[in-house]
Amino acid sequence: MPSTVVVGLQWGDEAKGKIVDYLAAKADFVVRYNGGNNAGHTVVVGDQIYKFHTVPSGILHDGVTAIIADGVVIDPAVLCGELSALQPRGIDLSRLKISSTAHVIMPWHRMLDSLEERHRGSQKIGTTGRGIGPCYQDKYGRWGLRICDLIDPDRRSRRTEEILGYKNSLIQNVFGGEPLDASDICEEYSDYAEAIAPHVVDTSHLVGAACRDGKHVLFEGAHGALLDIDHGTYPYVTSSHPISGGATVGTGIGPRDITDVIGVAKVYTTRVGEGVFMTELLGEQGEAIRQKGAEFGTTTGRPRRCGWFDAVAVTFTCQINSCNKLALIKLDVMSGQETLKIATAYEIDGERTTEFPQDTTILDRVKPVYEELPGWSEPVDQARTLEELPKNARAYVDRLSELVNVPIWALSVGERRDQTILLD
Ligand code: GDP
Ligand code: IMO
Ligand code: MG
Repeated sequence: MPSTVVVGLQWGDEAKGKIVDYLAAKADFVVRYNGGNNAGHTVVVGDQIYKFHTVPSGILHDGVTAIIADGVVIDPAVLCGELSALQPRGIDLSRLKISSTAHVIMPWHRMLDSLEERHRGSQKIGTTGRGIGPCYQDKYGRWGLRICDLIDPDRRSRRTEEILGYKNSLIQNVFGGEPLDASDICEEYSDYAEAIAPHVVDTSHLVGAACRDGKHVLFEGAHGALLDIDHGTYPYVTSSHPISGGATVGTGIGPRDITDVIGVAKVYTTRVGEGVFMTELLGEQGEAIRQKGAEFGTTTGRPRRCGWFDAVAVTFTCQINSCNKLALIKLDVMSGQETLKIATAYEIDGERTTEFPQDTTILDRVKPVYEELPGWSEPVDQARTLEELPKNARAYVDRLSELVNVPIWALSVGERRDQTILLD
């Protein structure tokens, strides 16, 4: 299918990176549409591990043009670090295009991220500390500095001076922090600007033309739908639109340009940072999944909270993303569980519902209603067809698909490209 969005259906880290890389073998363009270097997308090729934060995960394939689109926020230091790490690994970076209108994460954004978190105290979000929230705040508050401003020396200094005049008063007078120096920042950022400039284009024209010409375009979502600023578990969310609709606003295409939406979900649930987690396993069972699934953040290294699959939440996220295909991930991690639980409904103040309430104060009161399925003891990481899966593993994934009402497109049984069972 020509243009496909790959979107996370939970709280992030569903293995979008693996799925994008898998599909990119046949893609012409891979377009990252939201978020910044709060994302960490892992791709494993043989014994090589790649961790992408800003660069699209499809760049490893020679035929792919990789685009960082308008909706992404870019930390130039991190992006330059990623590029310098990829170059010696033989990746042709001339295929990378960066939107001239993407917003830039500046030092004041990182500083304000940590100052705001400190100010929130026990109500902290548990952000990645990468300046994402403050950068998007400034974009919408019209205090942003864009890539086109960064690569123009005059605009870079003028805009930095203007913005810093306001930000320093905030840093000093509201938070009691140390002011930042505009000329120091401009000097440091001029090096990044030089490295980034050759990649900068108006990417919306490129993506629009690719869709019109029937090219195979993959849209890579960051984070997960439950972290969406409008539809997630607010305020414990990120500041962008991970949902499939984010691919339109974040790249400049229209809804009719999208032909497929692949929703990616683990066969259990994880979450990093604070906020509600209806099916969380706090004891030994959660710890066992964390160890077996190596559930530690790709970006911050923080342990991920683990729990059972939440079919109420994923049914909701399949709907808001208009998913027509499901990728179920990490089936191998569930081998050895005697029984598996799936939340099929929520009990809230004595009432049962299958509708996902978005008000976090209501979510706090949820008691999951579980369905139990028998587990399987055999490892499944060598399975390459449905027939090679134990009967109970197959019954489990079929039940997940039935509950969320989206057909399975692929199953993942390990981190490597070949550890994928395609059902299409
Ligand atoms: P993303 O942010 O959605 O791209 O996901 P991350 O890369 O942050 O986290 C997913 C992790 O699971 C990565 O370390 C992957 O290498 C790994 N992974 C992907 N698929 C599988 C799988 O089927 N089984 C196992 N055990 N690991 C997987
Ligand atoms: P990928 O793309 C998991 C979480 C943070 C925090 C909240 C807000 O790898 O799936 P932010 O720094 O965005 O302001 O933090 O969102 N978060 C993620 N959790 N995977 C991610 O990205 C995440 N991006 C943000 O942990 O709870
Ligand atoms: Mg991740």
